[in-house]
Formats: sequence, structure tokens, C-alpha cells
Amino acid sequence: MTDDALNLLAAEADDPVEVAIEGSLRPRSLAEYIGQREVKANLGVLLSAARARDEAADHVLLYGPPGLGKTTLATIIARELGVNVRYTSGPAIERPGDLAAVLTSLDERDVLFIDEIHRLNHAVEEILYPAMEDYALDVMIGKGPSARSLRLTLKPFTVVGATTRAGRISSPLRDRFGATYRLDFYAERELTEIVERSARILGVEIDGGAALAIAKRGRGTPRIVNRLLKRVRDHSEVHGDGRVTEAVAREAMRLLEIDDEGLDSTDRKLLAAIVQKFGSGPVGVAALAAVLSEEVETIEDVYEPFLLRLGFLDRTPQGRIATDLARTHLSDLGFEIPPPRRSEPEMPSLWADEPGVGDR
Ligand code: ADE
Repeated sequence: MTDDALNLLAAEADDPVEVAIEGSLRPRSLAEYIGQREVKANLGVLLSAARARDEAADHVLLYGPPGLGKTTLATIIARELGVNVRYTSGPAIERPGDLAAVLTSLDERDVLFIDEIHRLNHAVEEILYPAMEDYALDVMIGKGPSARSLRLTLKPFTVVGATTRAGRISSPLRDRFGATYRLDFYAERELTEIVERSARILGVEIDGGAALAIAKRGRGTPRIVNRLLKRVRDHSEVHGDGRVTEAVAREAMRLLEIDDEGLDSTDRKLLAAIVQKFGSGPVGVAALAAVLSEEVETIEDVYEPFLLRLGFLDRTPQGRIATDLARTHLSDLGFEIPPPRRSEPEMPSLWADEPGVGDR
């Protein structure tokens, strides 16, 4: 059951059927897209202007935690422009030649979606700059002293880059995007609407209380509420008559080890490690990653953003801290909570007697 719960947070489901279903739930136009109001409004203007000028749209950078709709928006951008979209990712483009092959295969005004764009290597990035700026591809011909550079002209195209954090992108690359939009966690009301829409597409009968119960535990993330909905539907078909009521939804999620705040077992392990092994912090993320056998990047990109938003975690220059809210949550779930190291009497401050310091 724990693995199932973990899959709910995974970047992509690995079962092809799940991937296809997830695709069928994705909105296909800005009008169908629920939430991210500001991004939608700004993107709408950018796309209308590009259409009116009969030009390729400006390059767009999307950033924010996983599962919030970056790939979906790239697909919508292409559809709204009436062009094709090519999907690739930073790690998939290993050599400049790989990128050159993709760029030369694009049709006029096509969209090139580059996921995890912060993971492009330097040599590939260097090729991308003139391609984005001037639709130019500089290729080296020959080797050694007789090597020379040849400039090819590409058809105008639009890069839609996606990353979990804008700060990870080199500034020359960031400068080449005409528009940068940050996707934020979805509100409960928006997630409820998404659950109800997905249930209609899947032909699942669901009541309002159940949709809300799923939305509340969806970590502000459409991908997660959609996966929860499918697991809840399975439960209702196996243990009930296929209708999803609030009681069925709650029971299914209890079995998936999703608690009332939407935390799964890894979230709880992470918080419990800080509380029990590191006196509630501060603790460095590398030490946490080692204790949990997770990658630092997974902790930072997948687990921490929602815990920070819930107010369960604080990031300080000294490291991560589990807040009192987190300690109370774990305690309510029956975890043993040792006193926090930070509440031990503090050393007298060197500045204690300096006049005026306390007033700052
Ligand atoms: N399914 C997944 N994300 C969605 C969104 N933002 N709006 C509507 N349906 C969705």
C-alpha cells in the first residue's frame, strides 16, 4: 500500500494505461483549464497577439512544483496556435547534435517543449541561445585548424521551457524567454472543480463531499487529485456499488495512508526524521536525504514545497526545521515527539548588552 501512496507523488506514472488516462483528463484549451488565473490571462494575451501578427509566439518559461500543469500548458499553447508540439527534456538532449536534429525538424511556428530545462548541459545551451534569439543554428564543420562555423537559418519556433525552480536556470538562458510564468499550488475550490470534471470524463458518479475530501488531500496538485480519484474509484467498485461517496473516499484514502492534510508516508517519515533524529532541526537537506534514502533534488522539488506551504517546514540558513504545527500533526497521529533542540536555553547573546540591538 505504501508504494501505491508513493506513486501518487511520482513525477510520471510508469503504467502506460495510467499515462493515457492522465492524458485524457488534461484540459485541451485555456478555456477548459481550471485555476492559474493570472497565468491564463497573460498567456491568452501573448497567444492572441502572436496569432494577430501571424508570427511564432515568444518563448515561454514555466516554473513551479511538479504536477501543476506545465506540460499541459505547453500542449495548450500549441493547440491554441494551431501548430505541432515536440516534447523533450534537458537530460534527453545529450549533445549539441541532438538539439540540432530536433530544431531542424520543426515546422514553422511549432512549439518545442523542453522539460527540466535547467538540466541542459552547457554545450547544448550554447546552441540554444542563437536558435532562440535569431532562429540561427551554428554548426561546426571539420576539426582542428581547418574547422569553421556555418550558420543555418531555422524556421521561427517557440520554446516552452519548464523547470521546478527558475533559480536553477543560467541567466543567459533565462534572458532568452520573452515571458516567464510561475505556477502555484491550486486552491481547494479549484481542485474540487478538477475532481468533478475528471469524474465526468471517467464516468464516475461522485458526490460533492467526496470531491472536496479528495481535493483537501490533493496537496494543491491536479496530478495528485486525479490519481487519488482513480484509486478511490477502484475502491468504490471493489467494496461498494461504484458510486463515490465521502465515506468511500475517506476510507480509500485512509488505506492509501494519505492523512487528512494530504501527507503520505514519505512526508511523515521526512518530518518524523527531523523531529526524532535531529531534535526538530535545523538539519541540512543532505543529511535528511541520506536518512530517507532519497535524492536531495526529490526532497527539494517534490516533498518540501507542499510542506513549506502547509507551514510544517521552515527553511533557514542553518537548515530545515519542523515547525510546532508539524510536531502537533505528528503527535496527533501517535508519533513520539521529543522536545525540540531549539527550545533549549540559548547561550547568552554576545550582543545582549549592546544598546539598541533589541529595537531593530
Ligand atoms: N486536469 C488536470 N489539470 C487540470 C486543470 N488545470 N484544469 C482542468 N482539468 C485539469
